[in-house]
Amino acid sequence: MTYGTIQVERKGRVGLITLDRPKALNALNTRLMNEVVAAATEFDRDPEIGCLVVTGSEKAFAAGADIKEMQSLDFVDAYLGDWFAAWDRFGALRKPVVAAVAGYALGGGCELAMLCDVLLAADTAKFGQPEIKLGVIPGIGGSQRLTRAVGKAKAMELCLTGRMMGAEEAERAGLVSRVVPADQLLSEALATAETIAAMSAPAAIMMKESVNRAFETTLAEGVRFERRLFHATFATVDQKEGMAAFAEKRPPEFRHR
Ligand code: CAA
Repeated sequence: MTYGTIQVERKGRVGLITLDRPKALNALNTRLMNEVVAAATEFDRDPEIGCLVVTGSEKAFAAGADIKEMQSLDFVDAYLGDWFAAWDRFGALRKPVVAAVAGYALGGGCELAMLCDVLLAADTAKFGQPEIKLGVIPGIGGSQRLTRAVGKAKAMELCLTGRMMGAEEAERAGLVSRVVPADQLLSEALATAETIAAMSAPAAIMMKESVNRAFETTLAEGVRFERRLFHATFATVDQKEGMAAFAEKRPPEFRHR
């Protein structure tokens, strides 16, 4: 399939999606949203792919939803069109997704990064939810996921003022897992994704499900959910292989990759 707003590549067992609307700083218009979701869904279903990476350009991961496209919408257009609903399908991907963020990750761009599972930032990254400055509020989960990631005080301040937060502050606040020099961002993201893709696929998918469950349920229910999945791993040949490899002091060769 050919795309007009993204580039899609396979790097071994990693599926790489690069947002590519440079003239609009990768603003997320409907076409780009549908293309990202289609490409990601295809990788998610592909048994040869174990992990995805989503990235943008040096200047912008994405500067938000496309303001010019939304400008003339009225309530009924937005409601009946279920504006942004396709992003929910991105959040429902089963395989792990690494976000590699350089430059602006604003509004929908910050929200897309937060929909990913591992968030790596270049030292040039700038995060923010500036929707309030446009007379609106976030619509792809920003007020919810940012609050869960950085806590109420910082989320309130960022969302109410529209202030941008640099990479170091974002790491201190717990929004990003690691900050790396900008020229190493993609190689670090691909290396992280290759590491994940080399694991047992059922274990990696269960791992993602289990961590995400922490945001949806109580501690007791979350631990019960994790315990059931832990027990389920003993039904896989990869558990036998992983533990045998440890005992035999050799690297594991997982079958389900
Ligand atoms: N939508 C549409 N076009 C955008 C855009 C956006 N979100 N962000 C940037 N662009 C366009 C600009 O209009 C400009 O196009 P033209 O050359 O045709 O004028 C081009 O990208 C380059 O942008 P700038 O000239 O503004 O670049 P800059 O370096 O001076 O500033 C910036 C960079 C600070 C990121 C600035 O572009 C900006 O503030 N962008 C908007 C950020 C924003 O408000 N994002 C939230 C959008 S709403 C949202 O995302 C809702 C939600 O919850 C999903």
